[in-house]
Amino acid sequence: MIGIFDSGIGGLSVLRPLRDLLPHEPLIYVADQAHVPYGARPPAEICALSEAITRFLLAQGAELVVVACNTATAAALTHLRAVFPDVPFVGMEPAVKPAARLTKTGVVGALATANTFKSQRYASLLARFAEGVRLVENPCVGLVERIERGELATAETETFLRAILEPMLAEGVDVLILGCTHYPFVRPLLERIAGPEVVLVDPAPAVAQQVARLLGRGVEEPLTAYGLQLTAYTTAEPERLHTQIQDLLGWDVPTLHVELTIAHQNSG
Ligand code: DGL
Repeated sequence: MIGIFDSGIGGLSVLRPLRDLLPHEPLIYVADQAHVPYGARPPAEICALSEAITRFLLAQGAELVVVACNTATAAALTHLRAVFPDVPFVGMEPAVKPAARLTKTGVVGALATANTFKSQRYASLLARFAEGVRLVENPCVGLVERIERGELATAETETFLRAILEPMLAEGVDVLILGCTHYPFVRPLLERIAGPEVVLVDPAPAVAQQVARLLGRGVEEPLTAYGLQLTAYTTAEPERLHTQIQDLLGWDVPTLHVELTIAHQNSG
């Protein structure tokens, strides 16, 4: 069983490639919608939340945990690996390396949350892979909330995204990093605004492959019948998440509420 979590529905964009690659693997998903967005939350809080979610996933039988959230990966992956040394984790990071390879103009746009941009992990990605490439970054303040509200194709969301992308395009951006798992859900709008010359990079398929490698699974035969084994949990209202999963993925799955048990934070 694979455990997957995100601050909200963003990680659902990772579920689809996971399910395509490993259609027989039971999946359990946690959306921490009581605390979304993580984007500007103190990293210590994200660590505590991620630890509590991981404990819950392991208690349900997860043998591997996908941190399907760039912000939680940046803030908490090192902490999670230290607290749960025997658990394989797969995190999500902005796809700086593939973007640097793809750009012809040498200018790459990066869309991620403020916490991701501020993180040591992101700085390290730039230092390792972005030599000679200029990154134009935007923390897309409010976009995660918009996507959580289901405003994926409204005129307001288009105006919002134009205000972000047009200055990037004017600077010569020809590759756009989707550095937050929520953003693939506005991909059609992003593509329309950016135009056919701009390549969008989403690390989700590579993450799914990494999960299959770690579990030692090859590519599985597709399911012939409806055999999806996914249980979804949210720290907020399950009815809402149930509808969101149906709208975004077309899947009708059991969706339940979970109350997190947050470990006491040591301030010293
Ligand atoms: N989906 C998360 C990510 O990949 C972030 C959303 C948030 O700000 O909560 O970064």
